[in-house]
Amino acid sequence: MKRIKTAIFGLGFVGRVHFDSVRRLENVQIAALADSKIEAAARLAANFAIPTPDVDFRNVLCDPTIDAVHICTPNAQHFPMAKAALEAGKHVACEKPITESVDQAQELVTLAAQKGLRNCVCHNLRYYPMVQQLRRMREAGELGEILSVQGGYLQDWLLYDTDWNWRVDSKAGGPMRCMGDIGSHWFDMAEHVTGLRVTSLCADLQTFYKTRKQPKKSVESFANKMLTPEDYIETPVDTDDYGTIIFRMGDRVRGCAVASQVAAGRKNRLSIEVYGTKASAAWDQERPNELWIGSRDKGNQLVLKDPSQLLPGAREYAELPGGHAEGYDDSNKQMLKRFYASIANPSLAPEYPQFIDGLRQMIIMRAEMESHQSRSWVEVPATAV
Ligand SMILES: NC(=O)c1ccc[n+]([C@@H]2O[C@H](COP(=O)([O-])OP(=O)(O)OC[C@H]3O[C@@H](n4cnc5c(N)ncnc54)[C@H](O)[C@@H]3O)[C@@H](O)[C@H]2O)c1
Repeated sequence: MKRIKTAIFGLGFVGRVHFDSVRRLENVQIAALADSKIEAAARLAANFAIPTPDVDFRNVLCDPTIDAVHICTPNAQHFPMAKAALEAGKHVACEKPITESVDQAQELVTLAAQKGLRNCVCHNLRYYPMVQQLRRMREAGELGEILSVQGGYLQDWLLYDTDWNWRVDSKAGGPMRCMGDIGSHWFDMAEHVTGLRVTSLCADLQTFYKTRKQPKKSVESFANKMLTPEDYIETPVDTDDYGTIIFRMGDRVRGCAVASQVAAGRKNRLSIEVYGTKASAAWDQERPNELWIGSRDKGNQLVLKDPSQLLPGAREYAELPGGHAEGYDDSNKQMLKRFYASIANPSLAPEYPQFIDGLRQMIIMRAEMESHQSRSWVEVPATAV
């Protein structure tokens, strides 16, 4: 099997998750790294016998031996990096949200198609085994016809006005923070497991803290709670802390979702509940190896992950035996494993979220912003037009 040479741009929180995922794939070699803050990347490279990292990702793109790149940098850099990588002929796995606008996302979708390159947007949360079980149960008709979908994505790491991260600043993270950062994961999962599309929505966003205390020293993502900042700058905030969305999926199906980064005690609670005419199912990322099945006429079930008991389509996403928990990093590995399989074998259909799925989330986010600003329901088109 040909060994695929890859590069990772951005070695912060999620870049390290990508690094670990790729190291678990037999046919992929991490051959280059780039990070604008070179120290951590240099240490990683030295310890794993990878050539000295670059501060400028463009130098890596000039290397003809690199087949693919991972874009794990703050959101505002996704578009220029992905565009440059595609133009250099590299396959691209790009973190979410894919871009800062629908137009940028559409441009990347078009460019990737023109170049015939594999493209993945990292909505990896689809690939927990019990999320796949939910999806396969729905496909097998076990839930009946879907009536409603609800849930949310709740975190608390930005609860205090002393909490800061590049995501708070729209110049680095884009204009929609909470809805882009975690709301996009929820809507990707809702459409993925139901097979339905959001057709209209009504959004109410809130920025609870109009200013935040920005530490003078830099803060790594999710590490702010460990800080005891001596010195802050009071900084205006122009991004959302919270959003409530009610939505329709066609004429009949109804749904609602809440995304919040200021929900005390909720660490990373992506929860989704799907209610059908025969049964319902609920999953929670904080208890990822469980799936709750609800019935009206018999006892409810709490099913634990055990590959031998999963439906065939879901089973291949569980690599460890029953009782051996699989988590967040495994979901990322499952996604990247399929991305690289499709590079190794061009005849394989893409079994991972592609840039067009990233575009889909940008369309939903644009509708959320329009709805919030106009205080009204907004149609969600199927495509960017
Ligand atoms: N799929 C998921 O579950 C998931 C989870 C977390 C973050 N993310 C996404 O990953 C991206 C990164 O988030 P994070 O939490 O890892 O951020 P982070 O701040 O922890 O890491 C970002 C890294 O990018 C580096 N960087 C910044 N500008 C750069 C440049 N021009 N060239 C090279 N490196 C550069 C920084 O030095 C840092 O090391 C975001 O788009 C975020 O939405 C996705």
